[in-house]
Amino acid sequence: MGNGGNVGQEKPWGKEQGLGAGQTMGPRAPRARIFTWIQNPPTNIRVTPPPATLRRATLADVAAALAWSPTRESLQQWAGSTVRWPASTESLWADINAADATTFALDAPPHGLVGFGQVRYREKTFGHLARIIVSPRHRGSGFGRVLCRALMREAPRLHNITCFTLYVFTDNPGAIALYHSLGFEDKNFHPDYPNVMLMEAPLHTMPVEEGD
Ligand SMILES: CC(C)(COP(=O)(O)OP(=O)(O)OC[C@H]1O[C@@H](n2cnc3c(N)ncnc32)[C@H](O)[C@@H]1OP(=O)(O)O)[C@@H](O)C(=O)NCCC(=O)NCCS
Repeated sequence: MGNGGNVGQEKPWGKEQGLGAGQTMGPRAPRARIFTWIQNPPTNIRVTPPPATLRRATLADVAAALAWSPTRESLQQWAGSTVRWPASTESLWADINAADATTFALDAPPHGLVGFGQVRYREKTFGHLARIIVSPRHRGSGFGRVLCRALMREAPRLHNITCFTLYVFTDNPGAIALYHSLGFEDKNFHPDYPNVMLMEAPLHTMPVEEGD
């Protein structure tokens, strides 16, 4: 438990559009039906996420995540403003390896390592997603969503939680859009960092999928 598993090849997810069950675009589809389909595409074609596997992170993964973050800003955007800069693999690991944190890496063959993130047990209540980053080369391909969903599957396996939370900088609209798409809602601002927002999602936001 807690070691993840294949997280990408399971049930289709996300945006659903296109052909419905029993519908066909094969050679026998009458012309009128094709025309109707083009005008009003059905809404249940399923987009399969990129296949990927979540596993416990190693120091080599920390080094890779650091290499994806060549500036203080790009590092602190995901690792938090308290991490040291300049950073080494060891200093970053020391700064993020909290006692309540479990650190994961996302592999996606043939790309290799594409993502990195943590599940924390915040206030012994919340499954708190943290330190989420996707390799710059692989952004915009769905791995961020796959990573977050995989972490959200792990959180209740690791801890007795009532809901999911995370912190995000308010000037990170891409990440905020990702979290909204996963069912997170904006909550209050961090008491010490007014540019950091708490987001929260209910446990039932995680759809039950085959293999869970
Ligand atoms: C935020 C991050 C993890 C997203 O990863 P990603 O693999 O690019 O995201 P995905 O391809 O899975 O996108 C999923 C959704 O996120 C949103 N999204 C992601 N990047 C976005 C961007 N640049 N602008 C707007 N929306 C964006 C979209 O809603 C997207 O859904 P859609 O493709 O259906 O429109 C990635 O950009 C990253 O690592 N950023 C640097 C580190 C960071 O900011 N981490 C978050 C710390 S809180």
